[in-house]
Amino acid sequence: MTLDSTPEKVLVGIIGGSGLYHLDNLVPVKEVNPDTPWGKPSSPITIAKAPGGTLVAFLARHGPGHGIPPSAVPSRANIAALKSLGVRLVVAFSAVGSLREEIKPGDFVLPDQIIDRTKGIRPASFFEGTSIVAHAQFGDPFANKLVNFLEDRVRKALEGTGKDLHTGKTIVCMEGPQFSTRAESKMYRSWGGDLINMSVLPEAKLAREAELSYALIATSTDYDSWRENSEAVTAAEVFKTLKTNADTSKRVLELIVADLHDAADSGEILSEEAGSMQYSIMPRSE
Ligand code: ADE
Repeated sequence: MTLDSTPEKVLVGIIGGSGLYHLDNLVPVKEVNPDTPWGKPSSPITIAKAPGGTLVAFLARHGPGHGIPPSAVPSRANIAALKSLGVRLVVAFSAVGSLREEIKPGDFVLPDQIIDRTKGIRPASFFEGTSIVAHAQFGDPFANKLVNFLEDRVRKALEGTGKDLHTGKTIVCMEGPQFSTRAESKMYRSWGGDLINMSVLPEAKLAREAELSYALIATSTDYDSWRENSEAVTAAEVFKTLKTNADTSKRVLELIVADLHDAADSGEILSEEAGSMQYSIMPRSE
C-alpha cells in the first residue's frame, strides 16, 4: 500500500530512543525514506497501523541498529522528514539518568523544562545558513497541551507495571558521549535538574521551529553519578533497563495512539504551536 493510495492521515510521529528501534506490536504498512534539504533521516520511517486502524510514523533516532551517537543525530532531517509526511505532533522517547532519589530506574517522566548543556556543535536551527533571522518562543520547550493530554493517559497505561509517572520535571541535555563527572552531576541537581540525557536537544528546538507539537516521554535507566555511596553510571547499567523500558513504551503507545490521533485531527492539542513561527521572524529594515 502506498501512502498516496490511503485516505488515512498520519498525524502522529513517534521518535524512538535507545532500546526502542521499532514498534513490533503495531502492523507495518509501509516504509519511507524521504530526502530532505538536510539529508536523510536517522532511519527509514515506518508507517504502522495501531489497533483500531490509526496510522503512526515511527523513526529510530539512533538508526535501526543504534549506529548514530547523540552528537551526530541528523535532527533537522528527522523533524523535516516527519513534517513532510503531514505529521502534526511528535511524541519522542528517550532513556535518561535520574538526578532525584524518587525517580527510580524504570520510571517514566514527562518533563516540562530543559537546561541546555550541549556544546553548540549540533546544528540547532532550520534557519542556519539562510538570510532569515528567526527567534522561536522556547520558554515552554514542550507543548504544554500535549504534555497535559499525555499525563492521564500514560499514567493509566502504566497501571500494574510497577512503574511511576513523574511530571513537572527539568531535564538537562548534555553533549556526551562520556557521562558526567560526580561534580557535574551534583551541580545539575543544585541547578534544579531532575533528569539528564543527550538527545532532547536540538530535537525539541527544531520541532518548535517546524511548528510541531512535541513532548518527551523520558524513561529512567540509572541514577547518574551524584549518589555518594553508589557506583557512577556505566553504559552496562543503562543497558540493563533498556529492554523493559522499551517493552513498556510500546505498550503505552499502543494504548494511547488512537486518542493522540483524534486529538491532533480535531486540533484539540495543537493550538499553541501551529502558526507560532509567524511571530518569530525578524522584519528587515531598509
Ligand atoms: N542517558 C541515560 N542515562 C544517562 C545519563 N546518566 N547521562 C546522560 N544520558 C543518559
